[in-house]
Amino acid sequence: KKNRQNELYILDCLAYFMVFMAACCFVTLLFENVPYGRYSTSKYGFPVNAKVAWFIQELPAFLVPFSLLVWTSSARTSLLPNQLLIAMYFCHYVQRALIYPFLIRGGKPTPFVSFALAFVFCVYNGYMQIRYLSHYAVYPAHWFTHPCFITGSVLWFTGWLVNVHSDHILRNLRQPGESGYKIPTGGMFEYVSGANFLGEITEWVGFALAGHSVHSAAFAVFTAVVLASRAVAHHKWYLAKFENYPKQRKALIPFLF
Ligand SMILES: NC(=O)c1ccc[n+]([C@@H]2O[C@H](COP(=O)([O-])OP(=O)(O)OC[C@H]3O[C@@H](n4cnc5c(N)ncnc54)[C@H](OP(=O)(O)O)[C@@H]3O)[C@@H](O)[C@H]2O)c1
Repeated sequence: KKNRQNELYILDCLAYFMVFMAACCFVTLLFENVPYGRYSTSKYGFPVNAKVAWFIQELPAFLVPFSLLVWTSSARTSLLPNQLLIAMYFCHYVQRALIYPFLIRGGKPTPFVSFALAFVFCVYNGYMQIRYLSHYAVYPAHWFTHPCFITGSVLWFTGWLVNVHSDHILRNLRQPGESGYKIPTGGMFEYVSGANFLGEITEWVGFALAGHSVHSAAFAVFTAVVLASRAVAHHKWYLAKFENYPKQRKALIPFLF
């Protein structure tokens, strides 16, 4: 009993610390872009091949939770809301860790520091989300019919589709062997420059609404800070690079921002 209380306390601390880190990132990202992809620089360590970096850095987001479920007692995994939330998490990370890296076309190498930070984040967040859901999260009876759960799940699913579809559009801008940039068109790119980021933010905001915990909310806040900054940076970058960039297109939120 005491151990359980201690671990729950640690999980809560991890969540609050993630919110604190999101605030720090918010300030830092006003001055600097996260250095990977088009903003890669040798200042942040030696370059790691894009496919290798994405596969290794995202793998713990799958393996840590998978190990927790398989090798530790998971008191709450027999309950439907917990099962559905765990399934949402895995649906995303099976794609991100085991499929996405192998589909990348001509991706820029990731500097070692960015790669290492992404790896640490995936271990941290993987443990925090799935340990909480499999061991501690308690939902009211019929939570899965509650408007918060239903709205959150719909947002999560819509966001996931937008994310996967948008990454598919980006990938297909390049022929195998190419590594340059083109203006993305189609899907949500007709409205925003950061369509893949809009999808991912929507996903985790939905997950947080359905999961109703400080742990899932911290992940949504962190993702929103990092990816909103990246969407704004990409938007400015496109406007500077392409004279014919669509003028009505926004950075992250259709028609608004
Ligand atoms: N949850 C989180 O906190 C988090 C954090 C980071 C990323 N992510 C997710 O991870 C995925 C990838 O993120 P990212 O930051 O790498 O996205 P990105 O900058 O949009 O790049 C995605 C891929 O598409 C290529 N690409 C982008 N724009 C292109 C264009 N105009 N023409 C041709 N190719 C283009 C990139 O190549 P280059 O490498 O050559 O630029 C890269 O391989 C996204 O779905 C994102 O939501 C999530």
